[in-house]
Amino acid sequence: MDDFAGTPEPPYYAVIFTSSLSSNTDGYAETARRMVELAARQPGYLGLESAREGGLGITVSYWRDEGSIRAWKADLEHQKAQRQGRDVWYRGYATRVARVERSYGVLPTQQNESCLAPSGPIERQRDSWERNAPAWIRSVRDGCIASRQVTDRAMIDAVLSRQPRRVLDLGCGEGWLCRSLADQGIECIGIDASRELVEAAREQGGGRFVELDYASLSRLMEETGETRFDIVVANFSLLDDALEATLDRIIPALASHGQLLIQTLHPWALQEGQAYRSGWRDEDFRSHSVDFSTSMPWFYRTMSDWVSCLARAGFSLTEVIEPACPESGRPLSLLMACRVAQ
Ligand SMILES: C[S@@+](CC[C@H](N)C(=O)[O-])C[C@H]1O[C@@H](n2cnc3c(N)ncnc32)[C@H](O)[C@@H]1O
Repeated sequence: MDDFAGTPEPPYYAVIFTSSLSSNTDGYAETARRMVELAARQPGYLGLESAREGGLGITVSYWRDEGSIRAWKADLEHQKAQRQGRDVWYRGYATRVARVERSYGVLPTQQNESCLAPSGPIERQRDSWERNAPAWIRSVRDGCIASRQVTDRAMIDAVLSRQPRRVLDLGCGEGWLCRSLADQGIECIGIDASRELVEAAREQGGGRFVELDYASLSRLMEETGETRFDIVVANFSLLDDALEATLDRIIPALASHGQLLIQTLHPWALQEGQAYRSGWRDEDFRSHSVDFSTSMPWFYRTMSDWVSCLARAGFSLTEVIEPACPESGRPLSLLMACRVAQ
């Protein structure tokens, strides 16, 4: 690992993990890679630096607060890896938790030189939702996104027509959908990785709101005793390149008759000069009348990539809707309903 972790202004926390490997390292490298990937998806994760020479390795992971560190330690997949480490891979290890009070330094030129900023697209996306939370809340609650009149209605209609009793809203943001569904007597739970958006949702009520990354969805079921949902909704909230992994995690949350509803920007709503190719893009929020403090990296998918990703994860489409702009007739979004294929 060559990059410095992108960390915000202190204070934040560091977990310093030192380990000395035993002679049996079967499966160690894959598990270590998987843990780095999984840690990056935990709420409160800020970054990681790791080095190993000979048998001795030091990994420093950075976290927003002690609660995030505890939650990561309790993650079930991480616990399994910790057990394997203790039983098989490590001759010895030590974990030390510290609060970072000051940070300074000079980063390599390919990284931002003036501050220790988030580096990868997923970390930058997460950081953007924290920093843009006030602007996003205003945009949604003051009706500043014109297309939402059409797309919100389309999602509400798609949910109501399926007559669910319990709905899980993935990436619920400030919670508008749960509030609308609660008005119809539907029990709704919203999860979102952004602490500020979850707090804003809780203030308005209308459901139960949990600060949680999709990567930890199993915790919602295992630790809170939540039962399966009739509908899982993702309204403009599947924004990274790990779609298949997220779809895998949704399956255990769905009742046997359950359906997954995904609404996303229509893949054909391309801007001038944009290639029709899946990949990371940057949303600059320039079309919003509210000022956003930073842009948001998001992973754009072509129509065929959406369809094949769903199929690979074991979902079959039951309905596809293309809510359109009433004036121009152009599609604004793609709304896909799917169930787990038998
Ligand atoms: C465009 S907003 C949509 C919010 C809401 N669904 C709505 O319709 O207003 C995307 C939301 O997805 C959340 N999100 C994206 N990836 C996530 C992840 N891996 N885990 C949890 N939340 C995530 C963001 O924090 C953000 O609140």
